Amino acid sequence: MCGIVAYIGHRQAYPVIVKGLKRLEYRGYDSAGVALLNHGVKLYKKKGKVAALEETTLGKDLDGHIGIGHTRWATHGEPSDRNAHPHLSANGKLAMIHNGIIENYALLKQELIKKGYRFHSDTDTEVLLNFIEDIQENNGSTLEEALRIALKRVVGAYVIVLIDKDNPDTLIAARKGSPLVIGIGKGEHFLASDASPIVEYTKEVVYVNDYEIAIIKPDELILKNLGNERQTPFIQKLDLELAAIEKGGYDHFMLKEIFEQPSTIYDCLRGRLDVIQGTITMSGIRNNMDKIKNANRILIVACGTSWHAGLIAEYVIEELCRIPVEVEYASEFRYRNPIIHKGDMIIAISQSGETADTLVALENAKEQGAVILGVVNVVGSSIARLSHAGAYTHAGPEIGVASTKAFTAQLTVLTMVALMIAKERNTITRDRYLHLLNELNEVPEKVKKALEAAEHIQKLALKYKDVSDALYLGRGYNFPVALEGALKLKEISYIHAEGYPAAEMKHGPIALVDESLPVVFVATRDTYHEKIISNIQEIKARKGKVIAVITEGDEIITAMADDVLPVPEADELIAPIISTIPLQLLSYYIGVAKGYDVDKPRNLAKSVTVE
Ligand code: M6R
Repeated sequence: MCGIVAYIGHRQAYPVIVKGLKRLEYRGYDSAGVALLNHGVKLYKKKGKVAALEETTLGKDLDGHIGIGHTRWATHGEPSDRNAHPHLSANGKLAMIHNGIIENYALLKQELIKKGYRFHSDTDTEVLLNFIEDIQENNGSTLEEALRIALKRVVGAYVIVLIDKDNPDTLIAARKGSPLVIGIGKGEHFLASDASPIVEYTKEVVYVNDYEIAIIKPDELILKNLGNERQTPFIQKLDLELAAIEKGGYDHFMLKEIFEQPSTIYDCLRGRLDVIQGTITMSGIRNNMDKIKNANRILIVACGTSWHAGLIAEYVIEELCRIPVEVEYASEFRYRNPIIHKGDMIIAISQSGETADTLVALENAKEQGAVILGVVNVVGSSIARLSHAGAYTHAGPEIGVASTKAFTAQLTVLTMVALMIAKERNTITRDRYLHLLNELNEVPEKVKKALEAAEHIQKLALKYKDVSDALYLGRGYNFPVALEGALKLKEISYIHAEGYPAAEMKHGPIALVDESLPVVFVATRDTYHEKIISNIQEIKARKGKVIAVITEGDEIITAMADDVLPVPEADELIAPIISTIPLQLLSYYIGVAKGYDVDKPRNLAKSVTVE
């Protein structure tokens, strides 16, 4: 939520910042702004996407070697020019960008208003900035001291970066609860919410920790904690290539990411799955196997699409490992005082590794003694660092706001984790284990085959693009796939869609069925096949339109459905990874046919770092 970029060094700051902001637009695109320091602060900001900011700055003075930039996902105050970041302090000397929420901003604002401060925006950011300025002026403190004092009183989450007219060779940043990466160049530093704005300049990065303040000059990076003690920056090498964050000839990142799935799933399996030896090797899991295999209960904590992956994992783990599993929305779990026993294990699933609710839910569970196992995509992210053990999904950067390749990579990793545990616990036969290893190994090819239907699905999208509602149904392993299909359609095409267990539709949703309602069945051949055929009949009897994801060659459903989306045959436990593909494509093509910006759907942001 909100992307920040800052630069200090020998280059012109503006082009570095604007290019970086474009890479971070997936985090929010309600407004964008830049402040440059060069004989005073030059401030440009505009409602809308970064392109609108660029138009505003045409022909303006953009000279400066130090600057900060922001792309916003609105929390406090509507999307508008005046609420756009950066904000200027009352005396005009400080400019600041912020990602996060200052929860006690109202109280601080009242205090400042009593002191005569006037505000020009509705944001919590402007309040924090003036709070810092006020401390600086009243105490005669340096900016760094004032910041330290202010942050001790602040409740909430933040990454902030400040520039100061009186210190034109220094950037000051601080972090708590939101991500901040610092790229280290030769005589220059780059700051950003993730590594994508940095990767083309340097591969050496430092991930700033919570409660750290960074004082950055072109040639120097000093990290301190809030107690003013120096911290040693831990420099890491970025494992990210520029090509991975560009569209590579596709119209949208979402389409690129859908089509990347054969290779992302392959990357996820590579070096881990060995069908010849009959082994799965994931050191993060192996090294903690004693705790994991003896868990009394597994709690899966996640949000959105990652929560859907968790639901599928629940079915897989209970089936293979015979350990009870509960799947929790992180946002509910963190507030409802859950009962966590010593032997409980938490599996956290997150693409970004920064989702605020998931992060806090894990912190709480960790304090209560739970073992945390992270299934995370972004390397070095907060959730990855907080976990005791884990496995990265290796899907590469996912930039489209709608999650696609991260979901199938999560399912792949979670299945491997379940298989490792089941083997250790002796809850799976050797034959079944080897069969599933082979099935996993074939997934990249089967996904590739499923993608061949893209053209057909594009045509189908034109047929259904104007519907106002859709129902998605599935049973067993395919029920969460139905939920995920419905979520994708909502996000990208703004069509109201609901996912349900197919049998449950008789308890309410069937009342919606008439000749105008498309019902998408995820009906690949599995244990429930005959039952789902009956459910299709029930919809047809009420004149609903049936679109069915089926196993190739399924003539029975082909004869019944209005439209079918065939996918290659797979074991029912593995099938969700494949049956998801046509649903991703259907949502994508409907969104495009409706003329929407599918990479940046309205009101959404890729990484939800506010609760
Ligand atoms: O980064 P995370 O996996 O923790 O994100 C969780 C959700 O915000 C995310 O899956 C969201 O639902 C996506 N927009 C779904 O496409």
